[in-house]
Amino acid sequence: MKDRQRWSSKMIFIFAAVGSAVGLGNVWRFPYLAGKYGGGAFLIPYVLMLAIIGVPLLIMEFAIGQKMQVGAVNSFGKIRGKLSGIGLGAVLCGFVVVSYYAVVMAWSLLYTFYSFSLKWGVDTKDFFFNKVLHLSSGPADIGFISPQIILALVIAWVLVYFSVWKGVKSVGKVVLITMPLPIILLVVLLIRGITLPGAMDGIIFYLKPNFKALLDLEVWSAAMSQIFFTLSLAFGIMIAYASYQHEKSDIAKSAIITSLMNSGISILAGFAVFSTLGYMATKSATPISELAASGPSLAFIVFPKALSLIPFAPVFAVLFFIMLVTLAIDSAFSLVEAAATVIHDKYPDLRKEDISLYVCVIGFSCGIIFASFAGLYYLDITDHFITNYGLVIAGLLEAIAIGWFYGAEKLRKYINSVSDVKIGKWWSILIKFVIPVLLIALLINSFIQDIRTPYEGYPQWAIFCFGWLVLIVVALLSYLFAHFSKEH
Ligand code: PHE
Repeated sequence: MKDRQRWSSKMIFIFAAVGSAVGLGNVWRFPYLAGKYGGGAFLIPYVLMLAIIGVPLLIMEFAIGQKMQVGAVNSFGKIRGKLSGIGLGAVLCGFVVVSYYAVVMAWSLLYTFYSFSLKWGVDTKDFFFNKVLHLSSGPADIGFISPQIILALVIAWVLVYFSVWKGVKSVGKVVLITMPLPIILLVVLLIRGITLPGAMDGIIFYLKPNFKALLDLEVWSAAMSQIFFTLSLAFGIMIAYASYQHEKSDIAKSAIITSLMNSGISILAGFAVFSTLGYMATKSATPISELAASGPSLAFIVFPKALSLIPFAPVFAVLFFIMLVTLAIDSAFSLVEAAATVIHDKYPDLRKEDISLYVCVIGFSCGIIFASFAGLYYLDITDHFITNYGLVIAGLLEAIAIGWFYGAEKLRKYINSVSDVKIGKWWSILIKFVIPVLLIALLINSFIQDIRTPYEGYPQWAIFCFGWLVLIVVALLSYLFAHFSKEH
């Protein structure tokens, strides 16, 4: 067997892990969730979920990859042949995510370009929906494919491809820029934001705790899926990345550093976003609650408008969108690397450059549908279902596989034999009992909600095709793969 590729240093490994974790989720998902679910009080479920589920699972994923020295599929396959289906499920979920994540990266590239002239004008909503997306009247009206988005999507994929083409060798170099750069830009935007008039109102909106929100199960569910998404858990990414570490490298400290940096950046992003919204609210006499939108609306409608009100607007607009592009790229290529690692484990004679190319071409092709005039609707539905179910189920199965088949205590002994920070028995209890029980409870809760009210009022057929069906296909492929896997 050929020697496995290695990260050039421990620091580069952490750069890559943080690069994957810190993405659009930190800047547009976290602040929005905090604003919506109880302000400062949201930090309670968030931190609890981070401590009880996030950090232990991240330690687990780092440990499996590093111990087994292979990607997600074979890591579980080495425990028991049929468990390899769990790894495949995780990687497939990641694949679905990257197909639409790249589309968001494509919008960000277009907007970087538009920023120089603030091309969106006054009506940023009209610009985004009608001029950029050509958004149709509903999911049933697919319209055409938007040529400018496809062009930007090709550029996004070319950038992703050249970041991962030589596996960790090229990733290790690219993350030296793509990890720190968006953080530096975020700090610049943060300083600009908090020095604007009205910033304080925004920050108060962001942090003022509403403890009543904690009584709502939905808040806990939101905190949990955010933790999965933000730490890039249950996609096979962290397993793949850790498999390029030497077997004796530290685990626990790396996982703790990655989690703390990631959440720290989310909280900072909240200050940057809400201070700017506070300013905009003051200037346009609109309540902040009306401005605090999630995802695409925040980044492509509200922010362009807020940025155009600031002196030297084009400068800050360009910085903002370059930040989005660089935030997204290392998350996107980490998903490609997770898939490429799995394929390379299976076919070691194929060249890494070729494998990465296939993954990118397939990822691009699957994403074309999200560049259609109804793409935003599909993207929204798929994202909801993959993050609320796909990831959570993959994480649940991973914890069960380690807790009950491999042996949590056995993995803990390995972790402690290589780590500076020792982890106690509590970790095994969390993996074996607490995490599975919590995940099952929250899954049931999300399921009941989705059955009761169709997500965002979309038509049932659309929810079925872009939500449930995607999950069913992922599950079926993983099941078949497991079924035909040989026991070692
Ligand atoms: N962690 C990234 C974020 O917060 C998103 C991501 C999810 C990246 C899944 C890779 C895989 O935006």
